[in-house]
Amino acid sequence: MINVVILAAGQGKRMNSNLPKVLQPLAGKAMIEHVLQTVDKMDNVSKKVVVVGHQADVVRAHLSDNEDVSFALQQPQLGTGHALLQTLDQLDPSAEYTLVLLGDVPLIQPETIERLTAVAGDGMAILTTVLRNPTGYGRILRQKGRIVAIVEQKDATEGQKQIREVNTGIMLLPTARLASWLSELKTSNAQGEYYLTDVIGLAVRDGVRINSARPRRSFEVEGVNSKTQLARLEGIWQDHQAELLTEQGVTVLDPSRLDIRGKLTCGKDVTIDIGCIFEGDVVLGDGVYVGPYSVIRNAEIAQGTQVAAYTHIDGALVGSQAKIGPFARLRPGAQLADHVHIGNFVEVKNSIVGDASKVNHLTYIGDADIGARVNVGAGTITCNYDGVNKFRTVIEDDAFIGSDTQLVAPVTVGAGATLGAGTTLTKNAPAGKLTLSRARQVTIDGWVRPQKKQA
Ligand code: UD1
Ligand code: MG
Repeated sequence: MINVVILAAGQGKRMNSNLPKVLQPLAGKAMIEHVLQTVDKMDNVSKKVVVVGHQADVVRAHLSDNEDVSFALQQPQLGTGHALLQTLDQLDPSAEYTLVLLGDVPLIQPETIERLTAVAGDGMAILTTVLRNPTGYGRILRQKGRIVAIVEQKDATEGQKQIREVNTGIMLLPTARLASWLSELKTSNAQGEYYLTDVIGLAVRDGVRINSARPRRSFEVEGVNSKTQLARLEGIWQDHQAELLTEQGVTVLDPSRLDIRGKLTCGKDVTIDIGCIFEGDVVLGDGVYVGPYSVIRNAEIAQGTQVAAYTHIDGALVGSQAKIGPFARLRPGAQLADHVHIGNFVEVKNSIVGDASKVNHLTYIGDADIGARVNVGAGTITCNYDGVNKFRTVIEDDAFIGSDTQLVAPVTVGAGATLGAGTTLTKNAPAGKLTLSRARQVTIDGWVRPQKKQA
């Protein structure tokens, strides 16, 4: 078993933000949540401890839903070794290893952690990478191929600065040795900090083997210290996700103009046009087309449905072979059956729309149950709210709602009923009949238009 410690006490000054660094969002989610999500995919975790310090309460509150995460407060922040020291009493002593992850290195993937554990043997393991420009990182010193020390940028000699293999900050340490190693750390270095990296020297002294692994992809070990780096990593991650989709057979018309902030699951022959944003959990069935500049969040869209440009879908279920948009808005609780048409400037909220029903223009459907094959005319409004309470509108199968109609809920339109255009329906409309509320049309004979008064 493995203890996992996530270091997240640092300030992140270079973000120039009031939000703590590890809570800055990447692909719609706090960086540290990405790390926790990766940890959740590991099956051998014992304890999970997050070290908080700078704005500790804000970080803790943000993660409060993670019941299996405990927090260690590091106050003041005296370095990465000091940070790990704060967690000792919360670790599982029987867990062979303790994995150190960083809250600002968000995209580490489970496969890479597996590689690291695979090389640890009965010693320890460090995740290293080779950088063209290693400036700022701790350099890996080797003798006869074996790691013997890590030297920080600020403590490195000119010769050591030439080394391009660096410490990613992610390492796997033997839990049983931690207490003694961490208590031996000194602050006699350029930054006056307790460096976690100094445990390497202690491991060498104690005859503990130090192995290393490399990440599969370089973005996994990229740290974020500024908004510039955050934006860069966001781009890399979006490119990566688009590539996973295209590899899997999705047609992405321009991978550089797709944003996925969550999880997008696609069937066969899905096409996604430019500028779309997917948030939360979205499932697109076989043959679904999503038109340009659509924003879709927490939704399921079944097989063959076409979503035209500029459509917003949030918390909705859409059946198969439906046509949605352009400029449509489906809000939470919208449930559309198969073959439904929802056209431009139509908003649907907390409503069921039955098979093959059509709501094509300029309409608000809220808190309604609409049956099958209903036609809702242009400019229809379900008046669901009296300013205090919400009420439901029921429209049964095969009803025809004339244009510019208001349905003042609670109200029911019976099966096959027709409502005349312009009706304000305040009482139930019986099945199979024409109902309308409309002042009779009159024409006034002999009427003349007012004339402009002469001055
Ligand atoms: C650290 C490593 C360096 C490595 C680099 C990778 C040390 C001494 N150096 O350097 O070898 O190349 O990461 O990015 O470990 N933190 C705390 N408490 C502290 C200090 C830091 O929780 O007292 C946290 C920070 O929030 C951050 C992480 O630890 O998540 C790394 O700290 P940072 O100050 O960025 O270390 P580096 O100087 O970058
Ligand atoms: Mg750093």
